[in-house]
Amino acid sequence: MRLLLINGPNLNLLGQREPSIYGSSTLESIEVALKNKAREEGAQLECFQSNFEGALIDRIQKAIGQVDAILINAGAYTHTSIALRDALLGSEIPYVELHLSNTSSRESFRHHSFLAARAVGVVSGFGVMSYHLALQGLLAHLRDSK
Ligand code: DQA
Repeated sequence: MRLLLINGPNLNLLGQREPSIYGSSTLESIEVALKNKAREEGAQLECFQSNFEGALIDRIQKAIGQVDAILINAGAYTHTSIALRDALLGSEIPYVELHLSNTSSRESFRHHSFLAARAVGVVSGFGVMSYHLALQGLLAHLRDSK
C-alpha cells in the first residue's frame, strides 16, 4: 500500500507555532514516526509539505496512479480552498482529513471544511495522535475495501 501524507501551510513550523494549540512536536518528528508506523503495517508512506496552494495541488495530481490513499492536514486551506477539494476529487484518490486541534471548538471560520464531505473520514483534536489515528483508520478502510 502506497500512502501520501500532505501537510499544508504553516505546518512546517510545528513545534514553535502556537504550542498551546498545536503541541511541541516538530513536523519532521511526526513524519518519521508515521513512516515507521506505516512500515510496520506493511505500507509505504511518502511525506510532502508546502505553504503554497498550487504546490499542494500539483502534488495531488502527481499522485494519480502512484498512490493508494492520502492523509491530509491542509491547515487553513481546509476552510478556504475549493481548488484543493477539486484536486482531491479529481484525483479519485481516497483521503482522510486530519487536524491536530479540534477545529469545531475553535473560531467559527474553522468550522467549515471544503474537504470533509468527500473524505473517507475526519480526525480532529487529538494532537499528534490525530496523525496516527488517521493512518490506522485509513489502513483499516483500505483493507476492508479490498
Ligand atoms: C489545523 C487547523 C486549521 O484551522 C489551521 O489553520 C491549521 C492547523 C490543525 O491541524 O489543527 O493550520 O489544520
